[in-house]
Formats: sequence, C-alpha cells, structure tokens
Amino acid sequence: MDFVPDIEVAKNCVRLDKFSPYSPAYVITNEDLRQSMRLVPENCNRALVTAASGDHPLWCSLYGAKHVDTFDISYNAKCIMDIKTAALKCMGHIAYIDLLKNLRLCQNVQHVPDMEYISKMIPKIEWEYMCSMAGSQIFSNGIIIKDDNSHLVDDREYKKLQKIVKGRYNFIMSDIANLSGHLTGTYDFIHLSNILDYRHTISDRLYTIFPLLKHVKVGGRIVCYNLVGMNWEEMHPTEYFEELVEELNEDAQSLKKAGLNGLFEIKKQNIAKAKKMCDSDFKNFNYTKSGCTVVFERLR
Ligand SMILES: C[S@@+](CC[C@H](N)C(=O)[O-])C[C@H]1O[C@@H](n2cnc3c(N)ncnc32)[C@H](O)[C@@H]1O
Repeated sequence: MDFVPDIEVAKNCVRLDKFSPYSPAYVITNEDLRQSMRLVPENCNRALVTAASGDHPLWCSLYGAKHVDTFDISYNAKCIMDIKTAALKCMGHIAYIDLLKNLRLCQNVQHVPDMEYISKMIPKIEWEYMCSMAGSQIFSNGIIIKDDNSHLVDDREYKKLQKIVKGRYNFIMSDIANLSGHLTGTYDFIHLSNILDYRHTISDRLYTIFPLLKHVKVGGRIVCYNLVGMNWEEMHPTEYFEELVEELNEDAQSLKKAGLNGLFEIKKQNIAKAKKMCDSDFKNFNYTKSGCTVVFERLR
C-alpha cells in the first residue's frame, strides 16, 4: 500500500539532525555519481538505488540501467525525485537548474516559479502534502546550488535524460534495515548512497548489508558510497567476518550477564548464515575501492 503522509506528524518532524520519514531532502547530491554510477554493470536490467535527491536514479538511468527502483526513509526524497522527473518533461536545462536553486531555499513550493506546470504531473496527494508543508523547508538539506557545481547534470546529460526517462520511478518508503522485506527478485545493481556512513561499526554495516545479499544477481554489485572515510578499505571482506566473530565473543559475556544468551545465539547463527552464503555464492566476495566507493560483487 502507498504511504499516506500525515501532515500534523510531518510538521513536527522536519529536522535536519536525524534521517526520518519527514527529514528534509537533498536537492542535489553531494556524491560523485559520475564516478560511482560507472559501476552500473553492462546490460543492467534492474537496479535499486536510494532515492535521496532524485539524482541517484537519474544518474543510474544515464549510465544504462533499464529499470530503476528507489527506496528512502524520507517521503521528501520521493517528492524531490518526482519533481525532477516531471521537470524533465516540461523544461530546458537552464530552467531546471534555476528550479533546483529555488527549491533548495524555498519556504513554500507554491511560490517557486514553474511549479504550477510541474505540480500537474505529480500525484495529487504528494502535491497537497508539499503545499501543506509551507514554512517547513522540506528541501533544505545539503549543499547550496551553484551553476558551476560539477555534481549537476550538464546540458548534454540533461537532454539525454529527457529522452530516456519515461516517467516516475517506483518508490519504496523504508528504512534500509527493513528494505529486504519489501523486495522481490534480484537486482544487477544496488546503490546505497552513503547510508552506511551512519552505521558506525563494521558489524552494524554488515548487518545492514546481509539481508540484501540475496537480492543481488550473479554478476551484480552493491555499491556503498563512502564520504567520511570509513575504514572498509583497510580490510579484505573475509576479515570482516573474523572481526564480527571477535566482536560477538567480546559481547558474549555482557549478553550472558544480562540474561540474553538467546540473542547471542541468534547473532551467531546470522553471522554463520551470511558467511556460508559468501563462501558459496560470493566465493570471491569481491572488494574494490574506486575513489570513495566500496563494492561487493556477486561472482557466482
Ligand atoms: C544518507 S543521505 C546523504 C546524502 C547523499 N550523499 C546525497 O548526495 O544525496 C542519502 C539519503 O539516504 C536516506 N537515508 C538515510 N538513512 C536512511 C535509512 N536508514 N534508510 C533508508 N534511507 C535512509 C536519506 O533520507 C537521504 O535521502
């Protein structure tokens, strides 16, 4: 069932300090997507990317993915993404950049030039939500937009997007922790933006990735962008498991003291299950550092 926004709840939740169902969206990405989207495999039929500012799905289409699904914890990410795909249909590149600048700073979407046309191409419930949020700066996250920002699509890229993006992207509103429960089938490419930057231990990051492994096709990839210099790059993936087991053993005493032996067993089984899967399907569970992305490849 589609998510129905609750305006009263939303008005009290537009906070920049925590990602949540109503946290403000980024208007342009702060990642180098030209670089990380080069990792979209050839003949990519199906991709899953973070909706974020809407730039992830657009760049993913630009780099050849035929069908792109998106997910995000925030409804505002869907709003900015749908504005962008609608803009492609009705404005040129210069007007598009102006639109993004205006949205980044706006208090009320209805006051933004050209939104009148765009609003007609956005689901009614979504447009009503945006209007009701006047005063809440739902698009206020991330960098201020300048014309020369290298993260913006240039005129040529914009024109190509206008040709290849057919309509709105499918959106799954979910915390990444529950994402796998919403997925069916497998993907050639999964891009997690830099969500894992906010998982501070290796085990937290791995527990986030484990449930997604079964949704990666052979030859497919999971890309985790890394903006804060996580120390993934210092280890080979097989060492991640050793580290996890070590962490778990350290945990064991405190879990036992707290009478949580059951939890210890569950954690142990989960690690064993993921390791078994990596040993068989991800035999060469591949680790590549290219710039600041971390890639897991399913080789068989
Ligand atoms: C981590 S933020 C960072 C901004 C990003 N580097 C960009 O350039 O757009 C990217 C997106 O991840 C979403 N996000 C953050 N935590 C999440 C979570 N636990 N589950 C799902 N999405 C999440 C945010 O709502 C945001 O739209």
